[in-house]
Amino acid sequence: MPPAAQTRPRVLSGIQPDFSLHIGNYLGALRNWARDQDEFENYFCIVDLHALTVLPDPAKLRANVLELAALYVACGLDPARCEIFVQSHVPAHAELAWIVECLTPMGWLERMTQFKARSQAQGRERISTGVFVYPDLMAADILLYDADYVPVGEDQRQHIELTRDVAQRLNSLHGDVVKVPQPLIRDVGARVMGLDAPLEKMSKSIAIERPGHAVLLLDPPDVIRRKVARAQTDTEPAVRDPVGPGVANLLDMYAALRGLDSRAALAAFEGKPYSALKSAVTDAMVDALQPIQAKYADLRSDDAALQRLLAESAERVSAVAGATLRRVQVAMGLR
Ligand code: TYM
Repeated sequence: MPPAAQTRPRVLSGIQPDFSLHIGNYLGALRNWARDQDEFENYFCIVDLHALTVLPDPAKLRANVLELAALYVACGLDPARCEIFVQSHVPAHAELAWIVECLTPMGWLERMTQFKARSQAQGRERISTGVFVYPDLMAADILLYDADYVPVGEDQRQHIELTRDVAQRLNSLHGDVVKVPQPLIRDVGARVMGLDAPLEKMSKSIAIERPGHAVLLLDPPDVIRRKVARAQTDTEPAVRDPVGPGVANLLDMYAALRGLDSRAALAAFEGKPYSALKSAVTDAMVDALQPIQAKYADLRSDDAALQRLLAESAERVSAVAGATLRRVQVAMGLR
Protein backbone atom coordinates (compact mmCIF):
# COMPACT_ATOMS: atom_id res chain seq x y z
CA MET A 1 0.00 0.00 0.00
CA PRO A 2 1.36 3.45 -0.78
CA PRO A 3 2.25 5.40 2.41
CA ALA A 4 -0.13 8.27 1.50
CA ALA A 5 -3.08 5.86 1.68
CA GLN A 6 -2.35 5.06 5.33
CA THR A 7 -3.69 8.37 6.56
CA ARG A 8 -7.14 7.53 5.21
CA PRO A 9 -9.85 5.83 7.23
CA ARG A 10 -9.82 2.10 6.84
CA VAL A 11 -12.64 -0.09 5.49
CA LEU A 12 -12.99 -3.81 5.77
CA SER A 13 -15.69 -5.91 4.20
CA GLY A 14 -16.23 -9.40 2.89
CA ILE A 15 -18.42 -11.72 0.86
CA GLN A 16 -18.98 -15.43 1.35
CA PRO A 17 -17.88 -17.70 -1.51
CA ASP A 18 -20.95 -19.85 -0.92
CA PHE A 19 -23.12 -19.33 -4.01
CA SER A 20 -23.20 -17.16 -7.15
CA LEU A 21 -23.29 -13.41 -6.59
CA HIS A 22 -26.40 -11.42 -7.49
CA ILE A 23 -27.25 -7.83 -8.25
CA GLY A 24 -28.04 -7.21 -4.55
CA ASN A 25 -24.46 -8.09 -3.59
CA TYR A 26 -23.28 -5.69 -6.25
CA LEU A 27 -25.55 -2.77 -5.34
CA GLY A 28 -25.37 -3.25 -1.58
CA ALA A 29 -21.64 -3.90 -1.39
CA LEU A 30 -19.19 -4.38 -4.28
CA ARG A 31 -20.16 -1.38 -6.33
CA ASN A 32 -19.78 0.93 -3.33
CA TRP A 33 -16.41 -0.54 -2.42
CA ALA A 34 -15.14 0.08 -5.93
CA ARG A 35 -16.58 3.58 -6.19
CA ASP A 36 -15.15 4.75 -2.87
CA GLN A 37 -11.74 3.06 -2.97
CA ASP A 38 -9.82 6.35 -3.21
CA GLU A 39 -11.35 7.61 0.03
CA PHE A 40 -10.19 4.68 2.14
CA GLU A 41 -7.48 2.25 2.94
CA ASN A 42 -9.18 -0.88 1.62
CA TYR A 43 -9.34 -4.42 2.99
CA PHE A 44 -11.63 -6.84 1.15
CA CYS A 45 -11.83 -10.40 2.30
CA ILE A 46 -13.19 -13.56 0.71
CA VAL A 47 -14.69 -15.18 3.79
CA ASP A 48 -14.29 -18.87 3.07
CA LEU A 49 -14.48 -19.90 6.75
CA HIS A 50 -17.94 -18.35 6.92
CA ALA A 51 -18.95 -20.29 3.81
CA LEU A 52 -18.18 -23.56 5.64
CA THR A 53 -21.44 -23.03 7.55
CA VAL A 54 -23.28 -24.22 4.43
CA LEU A 55 -20.85 -27.15 3.99
CA PRO A 56 -20.11 -26.61 0.31
CA ASP A 57 -18.54 -29.32 -1.79
CA PRO A 58 -14.73 -28.84 -1.42
CA ALA A 59 -14.08 -28.51 -5.16
CA LYS A 60 -16.93 -26.03 -5.43
CA LEU A 61 -15.61 -23.98 -2.51
CA ARG A 62 -12.17 -23.81 -4.13
CA ALA A 63 -13.73 -22.76 -7.44
CA ASN A 64 -15.98 -20.18 -5.76
CA VAL A 65 -13.03 -18.50 -4.07
CA LEU A 66 -11.32 -17.88 -7.40
CA GLU A 67 -14.58 -16.80 -9.01
CA LEU A 68 -15.12 -14.29 -6.22
CA ALA A 69 -11.55 -12.98 -6.42
CA ALA A 70 -12.01 -12.40 -10.15
CA LEU A 71 -15.37 -10.71 -9.54
CA TYR A 72 -13.87 -8.37 -6.95
CA VAL A 73 -11.37 -7.16 -9.52
CA ALA A 74 -13.84 -7.22 -12.41
CA CYS A 75 -16.24 -5.02 -10.40
CA GLY A 76 -13.50 -2.42 -10.18
CA LEU A 77 -11.43 -3.14 -7.08
CA ASP A 78 -7.88 -2.21 -8.01
CA PRO A 79 -5.35 -4.62 -6.46
CA ALA A 80 -2.88 -1.74 -6.26
CA ARG A 81 -5.22 0.15 -3.95
CA CYS A 82 -7.09 -2.71 -2.24
CA GLU A 83 -6.02 -5.71 -0.28
CA ILE A 84 -7.94 -8.68 -1.67
CA PHE A 85 -7.37 -11.80 0.39
CA VAL A 86 -8.84 -15.09 1.56
CA GLN A 87 -9.88 -15.34 5.21
CA SER A 88 -8.47 -18.82 5.85
CA HIS A 89 -5.05 -17.77 4.51
CA VAL A 90 -4.72 -15.55 7.60
CA PRO A 91 -4.97 -17.79 10.70
CA ALA A 92 -5.44 -14.79 13.02
CA HIS A 93 -9.14 -14.68 11.99
CA ALA A 94 -9.90 -18.03 13.59
CA GLU A 95 -7.68 -17.29 16.59
CA LEU A 96 -9.33 -13.98 17.40
CA ALA A 97 -12.77 -15.50 16.80
CA TRP A 98 -12.22 -17.84 19.76
CA ILE A 99 -11.35 -14.92 22.01
CA VAL A 100 -14.43 -13.02 20.77
CA GLU A 101 -16.61 -16.07 21.51
CA CYS A 102 -15.40 -16.01 25.10
CA LEU A 103 -16.49 -12.36 25.35
CA THR A 104 -19.95 -12.90 23.81
CA PRO A 105 -22.93 -13.92 25.94
CA MET A 106 -25.05 -16.58 24.21
CA GLY A 107 -28.07 -14.31 24.52
CA TRP A 108 -26.51 -11.83 22.07
CA LEU A 109 -26.06 -14.57 19.48
CA GLU A 110 -29.54 -16.00 20.03
CA ARG A 111 -31.01 -12.63 19.11
CA MET A 112 -29.33 -12.54 15.68
CA THR A 113 -31.97 -12.50 12.92
CA GLN A 114 -29.95 -14.71 10.59
CA PHE A 115 -29.43 -17.31 13.29
CA LYS A 116 -33.12 -17.28 14.17
CA ALA A 117 -34.13 -17.66 10.51
CA ARG A 118 -31.74 -20.54 9.90
CA SER A 119 -32.58 -22.35 13.11
CA GLN A 120 -36.28 -22.03 12.32
CA ALA A 121 -35.83 -23.30 8.78
CA GLN A 122 -33.51 -26.19 9.58
CA GLY A 123 -34.08 -26.82 13.29
CA ARG A 124 -31.68 -26.06 16.15
CA GLU A 125 -30.75 -29.72 16.45
CA ARG A 126 -29.45 -29.79 12.91
CA ILE A 127 -27.65 -26.51 12.26
CA SER A 128 -24.00 -26.34 13.21
CA THR A 129 -22.56 -24.31 16.06
CA GLY A 130 -20.73 -22.50 13.24
CA VAL A 131 -24.02 -20.87 12.29
CA PHE A 132 -24.45 -19.78 15.91
CA VAL A 133 -21.00 -18.25 16.41
CA TYR A 134 -20.79 -16.89 12.85
CA PRO A 135 -21.17 -13.24 14.03
CA ASP A 136 -18.17 -13.65 16.32
CA LEU A 137 -16.00 -14.72 13.41
CA MET A 138 -17.27 -11.72 11.50
CA ALA A 139 -16.43 -9.47 14.45
CA ALA A 140 -12.91 -10.92 14.45
CA ASP A 141 -12.59 -10.17 10.68
CA ILE A 142 -13.42 -6.53 11.34
CA LEU A 143 -11.53 -5.94 14.57
CA LEU A 144 -8.29 -7.49 13.30
CA TYR A 145 -7.82 -4.66 10.82
CA ASP A 146 -8.84 -1.77 13.10
CA ALA A 147 -11.50 -0.93 10.54
CA ASP A 148 -13.14 2.49 10.87
CA TYR A 149 -16.02 1.54 8.58
CA VAL A 150 -17.66 -1.64 7.35
CA PRO A 151 -19.41 -1.06 4.01
CA VAL A 152 -22.25 -3.59 3.71
CA GLY A 153 -25.90 -4.02 2.82
CA GLU A 154 -28.66 -3.48 5.36
CA ASP A 155 -28.87 -7.18 6.29
CA GLN A 156 -25.45 -6.99 7.97
CA ARG A 157 -26.28 -4.09 10.29
CA GLN A 158 -27.11 -6.31 13.25
CA HIS A 159 -23.81 -8.18 12.91
CA ILE A 160 -21.91 -4.92 12.99
CA GLU A 161 -23.83 -3.82 16.06
CA LEU A 162 -22.71 -7.03 17.72
CA THR A 163 -19.13 -6.34 16.64
CA ARG A 164 -19.36 -2.92 18.28
CA ASP A 165 -20.79 -4.44 21.47
CA VAL A 166 -17.98 -6.98 21.66
CA ALA A 167 -15.34 -4.32 20.96
CA GLN A 168 -16.75 -2.08 23.67
CA ARG A 169 -16.83 -4.96 26.10
CA LEU A 170 -13.20 -5.82 25.39
CA ASN A 171 -12.17 -2.19 25.74
CA SER A 172 -14.07 -1.72 28.98
CA LEU A 173 -12.48 -4.83 30.49
CA HIS A 174 -8.92 -4.28 29.32
CA GLY A 175 -8.39 -0.67 28.25
CA ASP A 176 -8.45 0.63 24.67
CA VAL A 177 -7.48 -2.54 22.86
CA VAL A 178 -9.50 -2.44 19.62
CA LYS A 179 -11.12 0.14 17.40
CA VAL A 180 -14.93 0.29 17.52
CA PRO A 181 -16.09 0.20 13.87
CA GLN A 182 -19.12 1.81 12.24
CA PRO A 183 -21.40 0.38 9.57
CA LEU A 184 -21.42 2.16 6.20
CA ILE A 185 -24.81 1.49 4.62
CA ARG A 186 -25.99 3.52 1.64
CA ASP A 187 -29.44 5.01 1.04
CA VAL A 188 -30.16 3.20 -2.22
CA GLY A 189 -29.45 -0.41 -3.10
CA ALA A 190 -28.79 -1.48 0.50
CA ARG A 191 -31.70 -3.91 0.57
CA VAL A 192 -32.54 -5.35 -2.83
CA MET A 193 -35.58 -7.61 -2.70
CA GLY A 194 -36.34 -10.82 -4.62
CA LEU A 195 -37.64 -10.23 -8.14
CA ASP A 196 -40.18 -13.01 -7.71
CA ALA A 197 -41.09 -12.14 -4.09
CA PRO A 198 -40.46 -8.48 -3.29
CA LEU A 199 -41.13 -8.87 0.42
CA GLU A 200 -38.20 -11.26 0.70
CA LYS A 201 -34.58 -10.07 0.64
CA MET A 202 -32.75 -11.14 -2.53
CA SER A 203 -30.56 -14.02 -1.42
CA LYS A 204 -27.85 -16.14 -3.04
CA SER A 205 -29.18 -19.40 -1.64
CA ILE A 206 -32.80 -18.81 -2.67
CA ALA A 207 -31.64 -18.03 -6.23
CA ILE A 208 -30.44 -21.63 -6.56
CA GLU A 209 -33.91 -23.05 -6.02
CA ARG A 210 -35.78 -20.26 -7.81
CA PRO A 211 -33.71 -18.78 -10.66
CA GLY A 212 -36.32 -16.04 -11.23
CA HIS A 213 -35.51 -14.71 -7.76
CA ALA A 214 -32.31 -12.87 -8.70
CA VAL A 215 -30.25 -11.50 -11.55
CA LEU A 216 -26.77 -12.99 -11.16
CA LEU A 217 -23.66 -10.97 -11.96
CA LEU A 218 -22.64 -13.46 -14.64
CA ASP A 219 -26.09 -13.77 -16.29
CA PRO A 220 -26.05 -13.03 -20.05
CA PRO A 221 -28.24 -10.13 -21.28
CA ASP A 222 -31.10 -12.32 -22.56
CA VAL A 223 -31.39 -14.05 -19.18
CA ILE A 224 -31.39 -10.68 -17.39
CA ARG A 225 -34.13 -9.45 -19.71
CA ARG A 226 -36.27 -12.53 -19.09
CA LYS A 227 -35.86 -12.41 -15.31
CA VAL A 228 -36.68 -8.70 -15.05
CA ALA A 229 -39.64 -9.07 -17.42
CA ARG A 230 -41.09 -11.68 -15.06
CA ALA A 231 -40.43 -9.65 -11.90
CA GLN A 232 -43.48 -9.28 -9.69
CA THR A 233 -45.15 -5.86 -9.83
CA ASP A 234 -48.73 -5.24 -8.74
CA THR A 235 -52.20 -4.99 -10.21
CA GLU A 236 -52.05 -1.31 -11.26
CA PRO A 237 -51.33 -0.93 -14.97
CA ALA A 238 -48.75 1.83 -14.51
CA VAL A 239 -46.28 3.33 -12.03
CA ARG A 240 -48.19 5.44 -9.50
CA ASP A 241 -47.17 6.84 -6.15
CA PRO A 242 -47.46 5.15 -3.65
CA VAL A 243 -45.94 2.18 -5.41
CA GLY A 244 -46.16 -1.45 -4.25
CA PRO A 245 -43.09 -3.41 -3.06
CA GLY A 246 -42.24 -4.96 -6.45
CA VAL A 247 -42.25 -1.62 -8.23
CA ALA A 248 -40.37 0.02 -5.35
CA ASN A 249 -37.69 -2.64 -5.71
CA LEU A 250 -37.34 -2.06 -9.47
CA LEU A 251 -37.14 1.70 -8.89
CA ASP A 252 -34.54 1.25 -6.17
CA MET A 253 -32.35 -0.90 -8.42
CA TYR A 254 -32.75 1.60 -11.24
CA ALA A 255 -31.83 4.51 -8.95
CA ALA A 256 -28.76 2.68 -7.63
CA LEU A 257 -27.58 1.67 -11.12
CA ARG A 258 -28.09 5.09 -12.67
CA GLY A 259 -26.83 7.07 -9.66
CA LEU A 260 -30.17 8.74 -8.81
CA ASP A 261 -31.99 9.15 -5.54
CA SER A 262 -35.28 7.28 -5.16
CA ARG A 263 -37.43 10.39 -5.65
CA ALA A 264 -35.79 11.12 -9.03
CA ALA A 265 -36.24 7.50 -10.10
CA LEU A 266 -39.94 7.60 -9.25
CA ALA A 267 -40.38 10.90 -11.08
CA ALA A 268 -38.78 9.42 -14.21
CA PHE A 269 -41.42 6.67 -14.43
CA GLU A 270 -44.53 8.17 -12.85
CA GLY A 271 -47.54 7.30 -15.03
CA LYS A 272 -45.52 5.03 -17.36
CA PRO A 273 -46.39 1.37 -17.88
CA TYR A 274 -44.44 -1.27 -15.97
CA SER A 275 -42.97 -2.55 -19.23
CA ALA A 276 -41.12 0.78 -19.65
CA LEU A 277 -39.68 0.54 -16.15
CA LYS A 278 -38.66 -3.08 -16.65
CA SER A 279 -36.96 -2.38 -19.90
CA ALA A 280 -35.05 0.57 -18.39
CA VAL A 281 -33.99 -1.58 -15.43
CA THR A 282 -32.81 -4.29 -17.81
CA ASP A 283 -30.79 -1.80 -19.85
CA ALA A 284 -29.22 -0.34 -16.71
CA MET A 285 -28.25 -3.82 -15.51
CA VAL A 286 -26.82 -4.86 -18.86
CA ASP A 287 -24.85 -1.60 -19.09
CA ALA A 288 -23.38 -2.23 -15.64
CA LEU A 289 -22.76 -5.96 -15.98
CA GLN A 290 -21.41 -6.30 -19.51
CA PRO A 291 -18.05 -4.63 -18.83
CA ILE A 292 -17.77 -6.59 -15.58
CA GLN A 293 -18.39 -9.86 -17.41
CA ALA A 294 -15.82 -9.03 -20.10
CA LYS A 295 -13.20 -8.22 -17.50
CA TYR A 296 -14.14 -11.32 -15.54
CA ALA A 297 -13.58 -13.56 -18.58
CA ASP A 298 -10.22 -11.93 -19.15
CA LEU A 299 -9.13 -12.44 -15.53
CA ARG A 300 -10.22 -16.07 -15.55
CA SER A 301 -7.87 -16.76 -18.45
CA ASP A 302 -5.02 -16.57 -15.91
CA ASP A 303 -6.01 -18.19 -12.62
CA ALA A 304 -2.37 -18.45 -11.59
CA ALA A 305 -2.14 -14.66 -11.58
CA LEU A 306 -5.26 -14.45 -9.40
CA GLN A 307 -3.81 -16.97 -6.99
CA ARG A 308 -0.59 -14.97 -6.81
CA LEU A 309 -2.51 -11.81 -6.06
CA LEU A 310 -4.36 -13.53 -3.20
CA ALA A 311 -1.18 -15.02 -1.75
CA GLU A 312 0.71 -11.73 -1.83
CA SER A 313 -2.14 -9.86 -0.24
CA ALA A 314 -2.54 -12.49 2.50
CA GLU A 315 1.12 -12.10 3.33
CA ARG A 316 0.83 -8.31 3.67
CA VAL A 317 -2.38 -8.32 5.70
CA SER A 318 -1.09 -11.06 8.01
CA ALA A 319 1.29 -8.51 9.49
CA VAL A 320 -1.60 -6.13 10.26
CA ALA A 321 -3.86 -8.87 11.65
CA GLY A 322 -1.01 -10.46 13.62
CA ALA A 323 -0.22 -7.18 15.37
CA THR A 324 -3.84 -6.73 16.48
CA LEU A 325 -4.12 -10.32 17.62
CA ARG A 326 -0.96 -9.93 19.68
CA ARG A 327 -2.28 -6.74 21.26
CA VAL A 328 -5.48 -8.55 22.28
CA GLN A 329 -3.55 -11.57 23.54
CA VAL A 330 -1.35 -9.37 25.70
CA ALA A 331 -4.39 -7.53 27.08
CA MET A 332 -6.10 -10.82 27.93
CA GLY A 333 -3.06 -12.31 29.64
CA LEU A 334 -2.22 -14.84 26.95
CA ARG A 335 1.21 -13.36 26.35
P1 TYM B 1 -22.94 -12.06 2.09
O1 TYM B 1 -21.91 -12.92 1.43
O2 TYM B 1 -24.27 -12.67 2.38
O3 TYM B 1 -23.23 -10.77 1.25
C1 TYM B 1 -22.19 -9.96 0.77
C2 TYM B 1 -22.60 -8.49 0.78
O4 TYM B 1 -23.77 -8.27 -0.03
C3 TYM B 1 -24.74 -7.58 0.75
N1 TYM B 1 -26.07 -8.07 0.35
C4 TYM B 1 -27.06 -7.30 -0.09
N2 TYM B 1 -27.13 -5.96 -0.29
C5 TYM B 1 -28.29 -5.48 -0.76
N3 TYM B 1 -29.37 -6.25 -1.04
C6 TYM B 1 -29.35 -7.58 -0.84
N4 TYM B 1 -30.40 -8.34 -1.12
C7 TYM B 1 -28.14 -8.16 -0.35
N5 TYM B 1 -27.77 -9.43 -0.06
C8 TYM B 1 -26.50 -9.34 0.38
C9 TYM B 1 -24.43 -7.94 2.18
O5 TYM B 1 -24.98 -6.98 3.08
C10 TYM B 1 -22.93 -7.96 2.18
O6 TYM B 1 -22.41 -6.65 2.31
N6 TYM B 1 -21.67 -11.94 6.93
C11 TYM B 1 -21.36 -11.42 5.63
C12 TYM B 1 -19.93 -11.66 5.20
C13 TYM B 1 -18.88 -11.19 6.14
C14 TYM B 1 -18.50 -9.85 6.38
C15 TYM B 1 -17.41 -9.91 7.28
C16 TYM B 1 -18.96 -8.63 5.91
C17 TYM B 1 -18.06 -11.98 6.88
N7 TYM B 1 -17.18 -11.21 7.56
C18 TYM B 1 -16.78 -8.76 7.73
C19 TYM B 1 -18.34 -7.46 6.39
C20 TYM B 1 -17.26 -7.54 7.28
C21 TYM B 1 -22.27 -12.06 4.61
O7 TYM B 1 -22.78 -13.14 4.81
O8 TYM B 1 -22.33 -11.42 3.42
